[in-house]
Amino acid sequence: MKNICIIGSGYVGLVTGACFAELGNKVICVDNDVKKIKMLKKNILPFYEPGLKELINKNRSKLSFTSSIKDGVEKSEIVFITVGTPSRDDGSADLSCVERVATEIAHSINNYKLIVEKSTVPVETGEKVKYTIKRNIVKKIEFDVASNPEFLREGQAINDFFHPDRIIIGVETKKAEKILTELYKPICAPILVTDIKSAELIKHASNSFLATKISFINAVANICELVGADITKVAEGMGLDSRIGKSFLNAGPGFGGSCFPKDVDAFYWISKKLGYDFNLLYEVKKINETQKQNIIKKVEDALWIVANKIIAVLGLSFKPDTDDIRMSPAIDIIKSLQKKGAKIKAYDPKAMKKSKDVLKNVEYCKDIYSAVKNSDCILVMTEWNEFKNIDFEKVKRIMKNPILIDTRNIYNPEKLIKLGFVYKGVGR
Ligand code: UGA
Repeated sequence: MKNICIIGSGYVGLVTGACFAELGNKVICVDNDVKKIKMLKKNILPFYEPGLKELINKNRSKLSFTSSIKDGVEKSEIVFITVGTPSRDDGSADLSCVERVATEIAHSINNYKLIVEKSTVPVETGEKVKYTIKRNIVKKIEFDVASNPEFLREGQAINDFFHPDRIIIGVETKKAEKILTELYKPICAPILVTDIKSAELIKHASNSFLATKISFINAVANICELVGADITKVAEGMGLDSRIGKSFLNAGPGFGGSCFPKDVDAFYWISKKLGYDFNLLYEVKKINETQKQNIIKKVEDALWIVANKIIAVLGLSFKPDTDDIRMSPAIDIIKSLQKKGAKIKAYDPKAMKKSKDVLKNVEYCKDIYSAVKNSDCILVMTEWNEFKNIDFEKVKRIMKNPILIDTRNIYNPEKLIKLGFVYKGVGR
């Protein structure tokens, strides 16, 4: 059993805290947002993640919440930094929260601490964290800094925590390595121990590589459209090669979320700063942006005049099983269609509440069928399971024009065309 402090009770921090508590550790979750801490104490979570509320509830006796870094640090041996590292306007990562937390940790250190960066940070951040703590530390107390990047996917984060493909531990000392390997002992996964910089790079390189895979398949999807081939078959054929693998070859409206767009930008930026022009990542980003334009063009091709047409958008979150709409292609596409005069009706199983803050003049509907009623076109933006079993005979009866744009290729085109729909997928 270890005493752990997690600074930053956002998505990564809360999932990590709850999972470490489930493994038997005592965990203090810290956040400077006092309102959020009050809500967490009442088991009200700031976001939706399957199973998280239940896991937090189950481990109440081992989990506590506070807004005091001092309190959390003093009582713990391991301190995880899981604060946000958002993008600045130029694409670089804004590390001001990491710096502030490192300074406060330095002021609070009362005995040996292992300070672990878990947030996604550019290479060399560990060095800067160490330097900041050294500069601000009051007493002469030993500490170590480590990097232990997270690879959790929203919507399946708890399962990812307990069954990861790998655990990366970037350390400088044997002591830090021992503490972290012991902490992860209950988890059955390969542990790769590296230096801190390599661990930091593994995270940026992994996310950027996955984003590259998505942009690559989206580019191939465009070629498929030009020649009349089927991207789902092309991806299947490519994926059967074990060196390529099947995952992350689903063509669609482009990647979104709080990680890939930000991390591709930050990796491009830090590479440039270090003296390497990582142009490949620039292209990955460009293809991703163009993909949204391609979807808008599909809507225009299908409707001809978009102004005053009713478009039923199914799915607002950037992917299923989350209410996260950050950098969701659905949001950008809706805004563009509204600019062209379209009237938007929308339905999402979880993300409507958050969308209301960023999308105006949208008619939010209680279910799929209320959304598609009297619409001129259906635009499926997120592959929620609920959308996979739609009664399309009913849909055809209640919508104005049977046009379906399936940006996630979840439906069988032949079946829909037979039913009388105009069907447009991506890359087929
Ligand atoms: C991603 C990584 O997958 C995690 O390993 C990592 O820990 C996390 O970022 C992070 O850095 O915190 P996440 O953003 O939750 O996780 O979502 P993904 O499932 O990776 O999907 C990202 C985006 O790519 C979504 O918009 C999704 O729709 C899109 N995508 C994914 C595709 O368009 N095609 C695919 O084949 C796969």
